[in-house]
Amino acid sequence: MNWIAVGLAKDVPPGVVIPSRIEDTEMAIWCTPSGRYHAWSDRCPHRGMRLSHGFVRGETLACIYHGWQYNQTGSCDYIPAHPKLTPPDTICVPTYTCVEEGGVIWVSLNSVDDPLPVLGARVPVRSVPVSLSAKDVAAHFGAAGFTTIAVVSDYDTLLAVQPCTDTMCVLHVLAAPDADRKEVSRWVEDLRTTLEGVPA
Ligand code: FES
Repeated sequence: MNWIAVGLAKDVPPGVVIPSRIEDTEMAIWCTPSGRYHAWSDRCPHRGMRLSHGFVRGETLACIYHGWQYNQTGSCDYIPAHPKLTPPDTICVPTYTCVEEGGVIWVSLNSVDDPLPVLGARVPVRSVPVSLSAKDVAAHFGAAGFTTIAVVSDYDTLLAVQPCTDTMCVLHVLAAPDADRKEVSRWVEDLRTTLEGVPA
């Protein structure tokens, strides 16, 4: 796998940070006030607090525990308890390649050589957690890979699948721009019910 959808841009507007994950990699996904998206390890280098519990301060992400601030490269550039100190370069949050394209936030944990998935004219509708692994979702659709699955339906739906755990994934749903979003939303709820094997 390469590019993985980790959220929809409309759910992470400027100034917001959320937790997310790709399998065992836990991340803080955040958006600067200027609209740039970041995916970082969800651990503060200081004492390990989740950075997804922090807050966006200007173009930096601040940890909620002791307020250390990290700039867009992941380097710590301000420690409130020592305001005159220039933090050493070694205080740095691991970062991952992250871009927004087509209203979807994509992360690559590996190489960025692969092109982003082709979304066509589809637009984001919603994200839906499913109690099933990404591989099992792919198997349901007979798909070879499991990161993006185009679904032939009335809505020209595309599912960008985010693998989370052995028993959970998130479907980021895109559909034709003229599709009724409420209908698409009901369709994906039915799909979730089917995938989870819960009687309707
Ligand atoms: S744990 Fe993050 S600043 Fe202390």
